[in-house]
Amino acid sequence: MKTSNNPIGIFDSGIGGLTVFKTIRKAFPAEDIVYFGDTARVPYGPKSKNTVIEYSIQNASFLIQQNAKIIIVACNTSSAVALPYIREITDIPVIGVIVPGAIAASNATRNNRIGIIGTEGTIRSEAYTKEILALKESADIHSTPCPLFVSLAEEGWENSQEAETIAETYLKQLLAEKVDTIVLGCTHYPILKSTIQKVVGKDVRLVDSSEAIIDSLRMILPNPEADKIGHDYFFVSDNEEKFYNLASRILNKEIYSLQKVRLRETWFVEKSD
Ligand code: DGL
Repeated sequence: MKTSNNPIGIFDSGIGGLTVFKTIRKAFPAEDIVYFGDTARVPYGPKSKNTVIEYSIQNASFLIQQNAKIIIVACNTSSAVALPYIREITDIPVIGVIVPGAIAASNATRNNRIGIIGTEGTIRSEAYTKEILALKESADIHSTPCPLFVSLAEEGWENSQEAETIAETYLKQLLAEKVDTIVLGCTHYPILKSTIQKVVGKDVRLVDSSEAIIDSLRMILPNPEADKIGHDYFFVSDNEEKFYNLASRILNKEIYSLQKVRLRETWFVEKSD
Protein backbone atom coordinates (compact mmCIF):
# COMPACT_ATOMS: atom_id res chain seq x y z
CA MET A 1 0.00 0.00 0.00
CA LYS A 2 1.19 3.52 -0.81
CA THR A 3 2.24 5.75 2.08
CA SER A 4 -0.45 7.00 4.40
CA ASN A 5 0.24 10.56 3.21
CA ASN A 6 -1.04 9.86 -0.28
CA PRO A 7 -4.61 10.97 -0.98
CA ILE A 8 -7.78 8.93 -1.14
CA GLY A 9 -9.06 9.03 -4.74
CA ILE A 10 -12.80 9.21 -5.45
CA PHE A 11 -14.57 9.36 -8.79
CA ASP A 12 -18.12 9.61 -10.08
CA SER A 13 -19.80 10.62 -13.32
CA GLY A 14 -20.59 14.03 -11.80
CA ILE A 15 -21.72 15.48 -8.50
CA GLY A 16 -23.34 12.30 -7.10
CA GLY A 17 -20.09 11.03 -5.62
CA LEU A 18 -19.98 14.15 -3.47
CA THR A 19 -22.45 12.37 -1.16
CA VAL A 20 -19.72 9.75 -0.68
CA PHE A 21 -17.01 12.41 -0.45
CA LYS A 22 -18.95 14.18 2.32
CA THR A 23 -19.26 11.03 4.43
CA ILE A 24 -15.61 10.11 3.93
CA ARG A 25 -14.40 13.63 4.71
CA LYS A 26 -16.34 13.56 7.99
CA ALA A 27 -15.05 10.12 9.00
CA PHE A 28 -11.44 10.77 7.95
CA PRO A 29 -10.67 14.45 8.62
CA ALA A 30 -6.91 13.98 8.39
CA GLU A 31 -6.87 12.42 4.92
CA ASP A 32 -6.17 14.31 1.71
CA ILE A 33 -8.85 13.56 -0.88
CA VAL A 34 -8.78 13.90 -4.66
CA TYR A 35 -12.24 13.91 -6.24
CA PHE A 36 -12.86 13.55 -9.96
CA GLY A 37 -16.31 14.20 -11.48
CA ASP A 38 -16.63 13.30 -15.14
CA THR A 39 -19.03 16.16 -15.77
CA ALA A 40 -18.32 16.16 -19.51
CA ARG A 41 -19.80 12.68 -19.93
CA VAL A 42 -22.50 12.46 -17.21
CA PRO A 43 -24.88 10.59 -17.14
CA TYR A 44 -23.39 7.10 -17.16
CA GLY A 45 -26.70 5.39 -16.33
CA PRO A 46 -28.11 5.10 -19.88
CA LYS A 47 -24.74 4.18 -21.46
CA SER A 48 -23.65 0.69 -22.48
CA LYS A 49 -21.59 -1.52 -20.19
CA ASN A 50 -18.47 -1.25 -22.39
CA THR A 51 -18.63 2.54 -22.48
CA VAL A 52 -18.97 2.74 -18.70
CA ILE A 53 -16.01 0.36 -18.30
CA GLU A 54 -13.89 2.48 -20.66
CA TYR A 55 -14.77 5.74 -18.87
CA SER A 56 -14.20 4.17 -15.45
CA ILE A 57 -10.71 2.95 -16.40
CA GLN A 58 -9.82 6.44 -17.64
CA ASN A 59 -11.13 8.02 -14.44
CA ALA A 60 -9.25 5.55 -12.24
CA SER A 61 -6.06 6.15 -14.27
CA PHE A 62 -6.35 9.84 -13.54
CA LEU A 63 -6.60 9.18 -9.80
CA ILE A 64 -3.60 6.84 -9.99
CA GLN A 65 -1.68 9.65 -11.72
CA GLN A 66 -2.62 11.85 -8.75
CA ASN A 67 -0.92 9.28 -6.49
CA ALA A 68 -4.10 7.99 -4.88
CA LYS A 69 -3.46 5.23 -2.33
CA ILE A 70 -6.97 3.86 -2.70
CA ILE A 71 -9.71 4.32 -5.28
CA ILE A 72 -13.33 4.73 -4.23
CA VAL A 73 -15.67 4.16 -7.14
CA ALA A 74 -18.40 6.51 -5.88
CA CYS A 75 -20.66 5.63 -8.78
CA ASN A 76 -22.96 2.62 -8.65
CA THR A 77 -23.14 2.36 -12.44
CA SER A 78 -19.33 2.03 -12.61
CA SER A 79 -19.16 -0.16 -9.50
CA ALA A 80 -21.70 -2.54 -11.04
CA VAL A 81 -19.61 -3.30 -14.13
CA ALA A 82 -16.09 -1.91 -13.96
CA LEU A 83 -14.41 -2.97 -10.68
CA PRO A 84 -12.59 -6.06 -12.07
CA TYR A 85 -11.31 -4.02 -15.03
CA ILE A 86 -10.00 -1.23 -12.79
CA ARG A 87 -8.32 -3.82 -10.55
CA GLU A 88 -6.46 -5.10 -13.62
CA ILE A 89 -4.65 -1.79 -14.06
CA THR A 90 -3.61 -1.18 -10.44
CA ASP A 91 -2.46 -2.87 -7.24
CA ILE A 92 -3.98 -0.24 -4.92
CA PRO A 93 -7.30 -1.14 -3.23
CA VAL A 94 -10.38 -0.37 -5.33
CA ILE A 95 -13.66 -0.08 -3.39
CA GLY A 96 -17.09 0.11 -4.97
CA VAL A 97 -20.41 1.08 -3.42
CA ILE A 98 -22.49 -2.00 -4.26
CA VAL A 99 -21.21 -4.54 -1.70
CA PRO A 100 -21.37 -2.12 1.28
CA GLY A 101 -24.90 -1.09 0.19
CA ALA A 102 -25.99 -4.72 -0.15
CA ILE A 103 -24.69 -5.54 3.33
CA ALA A 104 -26.45 -2.52 4.83
CA ALA A 105 -29.74 -3.42 3.10
CA SER A 106 -29.61 -7.06 4.24
CA ASN A 107 -29.09 -5.86 7.80
CA ALA A 108 -31.79 -3.17 7.62
CA THR A 109 -34.77 -5.15 6.35
CA ARG A 110 -37.25 -6.61 8.82
CA ASN A 111 -39.78 -8.16 6.43
CA ASN A 112 -37.16 -9.39 3.92
CA ARG A 113 -38.67 -7.29 1.14
CA ILE A 114 -36.05 -4.99 -0.34
CA GLY A 115 -36.40 -2.38 -3.07
CA ILE A 116 -33.49 -1.23 -5.19
CA ILE A 117 -33.47 2.00 -7.15
CA GLY A 118 -30.63 3.04 -9.43
CA THR A 119 -29.69 4.02 -12.94
CA GLU A 120 -30.75 1.88 -15.89
CA GLY A 121 -27.19 0.48 -16.09
CA THR A 122 -27.09 -0.49 -12.41
CA ILE A 123 -30.54 -2.10 -12.45
CA ARG A 124 -29.81 -3.92 -15.73
CA SER A 125 -26.57 -5.36 -14.25
CA GLU A 126 -28.53 -6.91 -11.34
CA ALA A 127 -25.40 -6.31 -9.26
CA TYR A 128 -27.36 -5.46 -6.08
CA THR A 129 -29.77 -8.36 -6.50
CA LYS A 130 -26.87 -10.83 -6.81
CA GLU A 131 -24.98 -9.40 -3.81
CA ILE A 132 -28.06 -9.26 -1.58
CA LEU A 133 -29.11 -12.80 -2.49
CA ALA A 134 -25.58 -14.02 -1.73
CA LEU A 135 -26.00 -12.56 1.76
CA LYS A 136 -29.69 -13.35 2.29
CA GLU A 137 -30.99 -16.11 0.08
CA SER A 138 -34.59 -15.60 1.17
CA ALA A 139 -34.73 -11.89 0.30
CA ASP A 140 -37.58 -10.78 -1.94
CA ILE A 141 -36.06 -8.10 -4.15
CA HIS A 142 -37.81 -5.59 -6.39
CA SER A 143 -35.93 -3.06 -8.47
CA THR A 144 -36.71 -0.10 -10.63
CA PRO A 145 -34.58 2.45 -12.50
CA CYS A 146 -35.18 6.13 -11.69
CA PRO A 147 -33.14 7.91 -14.39
CA LEU A 148 -34.67 11.38 -13.94
CA PHE A 149 -33.41 11.57 -10.35
CA VAL A 150 -29.89 12.18 -11.70
CA SER A 151 -31.00 15.22 -13.73
CA LEU A 152 -33.09 16.55 -10.81
CA ALA A 153 -30.01 16.36 -8.57
CA GLU A 154 -27.70 17.86 -11.22
CA GLU A 155 -30.20 20.73 -11.69
CA GLY A 156 -30.56 21.35 -7.96
CA TRP A 157 -34.30 20.49 -8.11
CA GLU A 158 -34.22 17.84 -5.40
CA ASN A 159 -36.86 19.45 -3.19
CA SER A 160 -39.23 20.62 -5.94
CA GLN A 161 -42.84 19.61 -6.48
CA GLU A 162 -41.70 18.10 -9.80
CA ALA A 163 -39.21 15.87 -7.94
CA GLU A 164 -41.99 14.68 -5.61
CA THR A 165 -44.36 13.87 -8.48
CA ILE A 166 -41.64 11.98 -10.36
CA ALA A 167 -40.68 10.08 -7.18
CA GLU A 168 -44.33 9.09 -6.63
CA THR A 169 -44.51 7.68 -10.15
CA TYR A 170 -41.20 5.78 -9.93
CA LEU A 171 -41.76 4.37 -6.44
CA LYS A 172 -45.43 3.36 -6.66
CA GLN A 173 -44.64 -0.20 -7.71
CA LEU A 174 -42.06 -0.76 -4.96
CA LEU A 175 -44.53 0.46 -2.35
CA ALA A 176 -47.19 -1.89 -3.77
CA GLU A 177 -44.68 -4.74 -3.20
CA LYS A 178 -44.54 -3.67 0.48
CA VAL A 179 -40.77 -3.27 0.64
CA ASP A 180 -39.59 -2.01 4.03
CA THR A 181 -36.10 -1.05 2.84
CA ILE A 182 -34.99 0.77 -0.29
CA VAL A 183 -31.38 0.93 -1.45
CA LEU A 184 -30.47 4.32 -2.90
CA GLY A 185 -28.40 2.55 -5.55
CA CYS A 186 -27.05 5.67 -7.20
CA THR A 187 -24.83 8.18 -5.44
CA HIS A 188 -26.94 11.05 -6.80
CA TYR A 189 -30.05 9.79 -4.99
CA PRO A 190 -29.10 10.73 -1.39
CA ILE A 191 -29.37 14.33 -2.63
CA LEU A 192 -33.12 13.61 -3.05
CA LYS A 193 -33.33 11.67 0.22
CA SER A 194 -35.86 13.90 1.96
CA THR A 195 -38.18 13.94 -1.08
CA ILE A 196 -37.91 10.14 -1.44
CA GLN A 197 -38.52 9.65 2.30
CA LYS A 198 -41.59 11.89 2.13
CA VAL A 199 -43.01 9.81 -0.73
CA VAL A 200 -42.31 6.35 0.76
CA GLY A 201 -43.19 7.29 4.35
CA LYS A 202 -41.06 7.20 7.49
CA ASP A 203 -41.41 3.46 8.05
CA VAL A 204 -39.41 2.58 4.95
CA ARG A 205 -35.66 2.55 5.59
CA LEU A 206 -33.50 4.21 2.97
CA VAL A 207 -30.03 2.70 2.62
CA ASP A 208 -27.35 5.15 1.58
CA SER A 209 -24.30 3.24 0.35
CA SER A 210 -22.09 6.27 0.98
CA GLU A 211 -22.55 5.61 4.68
CA ALA A 212 -22.07 1.88 4.28
CA ILE A 213 -18.66 2.34 2.65
CA ILE A 214 -17.06 3.80 5.79
CA ASP A 215 -16.80 0.39 7.51
CA SER A 216 -14.90 -1.03 4.53
CA LEU A 217 -12.57 1.96 4.55
CA ARG A 218 -11.84 1.70 8.27
CA MET A 219 -10.53 -1.82 7.68
CA ILE A 220 -8.02 -0.52 5.13
CA LEU A 221 -6.91 2.90 6.33
CA PRO A 222 -4.56 3.17 9.29
CA ASN A 223 -5.56 5.36 12.23
CA PRO A 224 -5.44 9.06 11.28
CA GLU A 225 -2.78 11.38 12.63
CA ALA A 226 -4.59 13.39 15.30
CA ASP A 227 -3.18 16.83 14.46
CA LYS A 228 -3.35 16.73 10.65
CA ILE A 229 -6.07 18.46 8.62
CA GLY A 230 -6.70 16.88 5.25
CA HIS A 231 -6.95 18.88 2.02
CA ASP A 232 -9.53 18.51 -0.75
CA TYR A 233 -8.66 18.63 -4.44
CA PHE A 234 -11.52 18.62 -6.95
CA PHE A 235 -11.20 17.94 -10.67
CA VAL A 236 -13.90 17.90 -13.33
CA SER A 237 -13.91 17.25 -17.06
CA ASP A 238 -16.32 20.14 -17.85
CA ASN A 239 -18.55 22.89 -16.44
CA GLU A 240 -16.43 23.92 -13.45
CA GLU A 241 -18.79 26.73 -12.53
CA LYS A 242 -21.87 24.51 -12.34
CA PHE A 243 -19.91 21.95 -10.34
CA TYR A 244 -18.61 24.65 -8.02
CA ASN A 245 -22.13 25.92 -7.28
CA LEU A 246 -23.66 22.48 -6.75
CA ALA A 247 -20.71 21.19 -4.75
CA SER A 248 -20.74 24.17 -2.41
CA ARG A 249 -24.44 23.54 -1.81
CA ILE A 250 -24.18 19.78 -1.30
CA LEU A 251 -21.12 20.06 0.96
CA ASN A 252 -22.37 23.17 2.76
CA LYS A 253 -19.02 24.84 2.28
CA GLU A 254 -17.03 26.58 -0.39
CA ILE A 255 -14.60 24.47 -2.34
CA TYR A 256 -11.20 26.01 -2.92
CA SER A 257 -9.22 23.75 -5.20
CA LEU A 258 -11.10 22.98 -8.42
CA GLN A 259 -9.46 22.32 -11.77
CA LYS A 260 -10.64 21.19 -15.15
CA VAL A 261 -8.90 18.29 -16.83
CA ARG A 262 -8.95 17.15 -20.43
CA LEU A 263 -8.57 13.57 -21.54
CA ARG A 264 -6.16 13.06 -24.36
CA GLU A 265 -7.14 10.02 -26.30
CA THR A 266 -7.05 8.68 -29.82
CA TRP A 267 -10.29 7.60 -31.35
CA PHE A 268 -10.38 4.43 -33.34
CA VAL A 269 -13.09 2.57 -35.24
CA GLU A 270 -14.59 -0.23 -33.17
CA LYS A 271 -14.75 -3.65 -34.82
CA SER A 272 -18.28 -5.05 -34.90
CA ASP A 273 -18.71 -8.41 -33.08
N1 DGL B 1 -23.93 8.67 -9.60
C1 DGL B 1 -23.89 7.57 -10.49
C2 DGL B 1 -24.30 6.27 -9.84
O1 DGL B 1 -24.12 6.12 -8.66
C3 DGL B 1 -24.43 7.67 -11.86
C4 DGL B 1 -25.36 8.68 -12.33
C5 DGL B 1 -25.27 8.76 -13.83
O2 DGL B 1 -24.24 9.23 -14.30
O3 DGL B 1 -26.20 8.30 -14.52
O4 DGL B 1 -24.78 5.38 -10.48
